[in-house]
Amino acid sequence: MGRVFVAGSINMDVVATADRHPRVGETVAGHEVFYFPGGKGANQAVSAAKLGAPTTLIGRLGTDAFGHDLKTFLAAQGVDLSYVTDTAGIHSGTAIITLANADNTIVVVPGANGFVSADDIATVALAKGDIAVSQFEIPLATISAFFNRARAAGATTILNPAPAIAFGAELLDLVDVLILNETELSLLAKTELRDSDEPARFIEAARALRGDRDMIVCVTLGKRGVVALADGKPLVVEGRAVKAVDTTGAGDCFVGAVAAQLAAGKSIRDALDYANIAASICVQRMGAAPSMPTAAEVKAFRRPGEGRAP
Ligand code: RIB
Repeated sequence: MGRVFVAGSINMDVVATADRHPRVGETVAGHEVFYFPGGKGANQAVSAAKLGAPTTLIGRLGTDAFGHDLKTFLAAQGVDLSYVTDTAGIHSGTAIITLANADNTIVVVPGANGFVSADDIATVALAKGDIAVSQFEIPLATISAFFNRARAAGATTILNPAPAIAFGAELLDLVDVLILNETELSLLAKTELRDSDEPARFIEAARALRGDRDMIVCVTLGKRGVVALADGKPLVVEGRAVKAVDTTGAGDCFVGAVAAQLAAGKSIRDALDYANIAASICVQRMGAAPSMPTAAEVKAFRRPGEGRAP
């Protein structure tokens, strides 16, 4: 079995629940405040680890109380933290989240995540069969350095370009599996997409973004499921009808699950089916990292005949 290495952000999510999101300039009364471990990198690492993949997180924390609590939580989830370092004089990554009707708005303040550098990944021992995962809450130059090392070692690279920003073709050239949602695809493929569009529209945009690269593109569509382009052929994974209470971290759950499945030698089709089930469990729980399911939970939640997931 390969291992999963995630280079990415670690945040404390400060979550306020309310009946609705405030409009600009408006104040609304909230109900509760939660402190949930989060950050796209940490969420993806927790997802992969809880689904059974040996998982290492590469990142940075401040030397504050949030940093201490995040480290304690991540270690308890079975994530290897040998490459998570403390940075003095800066706060740990913090996300301010408003949650209303299961949907969120997020302001993320990078803090120590902004200092994750090429030096931090320079000694990570990647090997053939490993999976290298990253997202856009750490500097892009660090992700390029990480993926260059992964490619040189024969590892598979997974990029989740979130939150979406325009980036250069040089980084895309280093990606084996691109996992993004429709908003990110719309921005990167420079085409207008709506979540009500037919799957063929997303496939067309994914094809345009892929160009002539040998890259798998997976587009997560929330409750509508997933469409993907693999070996030039479209794949569709149907969404699952569940009652969502908090969608924060569901995309990260999906990415971590795909990484864990590919590390275990599964095909992309099986990995997508499995990750779709995992994400549908995640949305039924509050919080980002604490809502990641275990492999036993995914197995129990699978419906008869659904996918080919174990
Ligand atoms: O993807 C969800 C994550 O985005 C949250 O946990 C928050 O920390 C932000 O980084």
